[in-house]
Amino acid sequence: MKFLALETSCDETAAAVFTDDLRILSSVVASQNELHVRFGGVVPEIASRAHLRNLLPVVDEALARANLKLSDIGCLVVHNTPGLVGALLVGVTAAKSLAFALGVPLIAVNHVASHIYACRMAAERDIFPCVGLVVSGGHTALFRCDTPLSLELLGTTRDDAAGEAFDKVAAILGLGFPGGPALEREARSGDPKAFAFPRSFLDSPTLEFSFSGLKTAVLYACHGQGVSKGIAPPADQKRADLAASFQEAVVDVLAGKCRQALQQTGLKRLAVGGGVSANLRLREKLRALDAEVFIPPLDLCTDNAAMAALAVEKWKVGDFAPPELDAHPNFL
Ligand code: KG4
Ligand code: ZN
Repeated sequence: MKFLALETSCDETAAAVFTDDLRILSSVVASQNELHVRFGGVVPEIASRAHLRNLLPVVDEALARANLKLSDIGCLVVHNTPGLVGALLVGVTAAKSLAFALGVPLIAVNHVASHIYACRMAAERDIFPCVGLVVSGGHTALFRCDTPLSLELLGTTRDDAAGEAFDKVAAILGLGFPGGPALEREARSGDPKAFAFPRSFLDSPTLEFSFSGLKTAVLYACHGQGVSKGIAPPADQKRADLAASFQEAVVDVLAGKCRQALQQTGLKRLAVGGGVSANLRLREKLRALDAEVFIPPLDLCTDNAAMAALAVEKWKVGDFAPPELDAHPNFL
């Protein structure tokens, strides 16, 4: 049984083919980075139009790499929530049309749940029950995951997502977009103890996050209070120190909240997903926790369609999407 999955929730157009025994036959991702870079962030309308242009070529490529034809596909899969609604709608409409044309069922999966399932795909064995941490440009949330399909929200961010904070601080430091990888590179030559940035809620039992105060603290440490935009980035060593100290603060909070979530739930496994889990310092700190830690390789961390193999779990229980399936921008 072959599944074709589509992902268009933000600024990556992706398609993947996998089997009911969870083998990934192909996974293709077309990045839109060069379209958004001059705006310093993802522009939703540009993202939707790029998905329209890119989706069918990406599907063709995924089928070609899997050495299959469209008629070999037995089930369509799509991420229909959460994300940019116009972007999601491109994938949802394409998946519905293809399923209807082929006369095969359609399965809708949650993008955030798929980020956690990416750990299951990489581990090639069961990882549930576990605590799930999803850290991306749009989300920072902890879940209790008793099964792949039952996610209980333990805590989320009250303001910026961790990846959003990386992107905004990278912009303050003049490091470009997307900021996460650039900031991590800059941090390598900096001192993580140079600036004592705040670690919100770290000493409280709550499993919520907040990163906007940290972002403002970096802005003030960089330029002094009372300034916001249009200021030249700081000199080299100060910039590296700011980057390293900021990264250390984010990583301390993420690792600290994971430790608390593991203690509070009594669970012994931690599954981590989303673009920020590409960060090597975060990986290092999470791996030091007293738990079995699952973090997928880079191509399964950032947005992709192979992680939508979560659909196989739904297929096993006959949980198919109706023809009137819609896209939902909000979480869960
Ligand atoms: O999961 P993802 O590809 O897309 C969303 O669903 O948001 O995550 C993208 C986010 C961006 O904010 C990007 O700056 C961040 O992940 N990111 C990183 C790193 N690589 C990507 N943040 C920190 N360190 C990295 N190495
Ligand atoms: Zn994502």
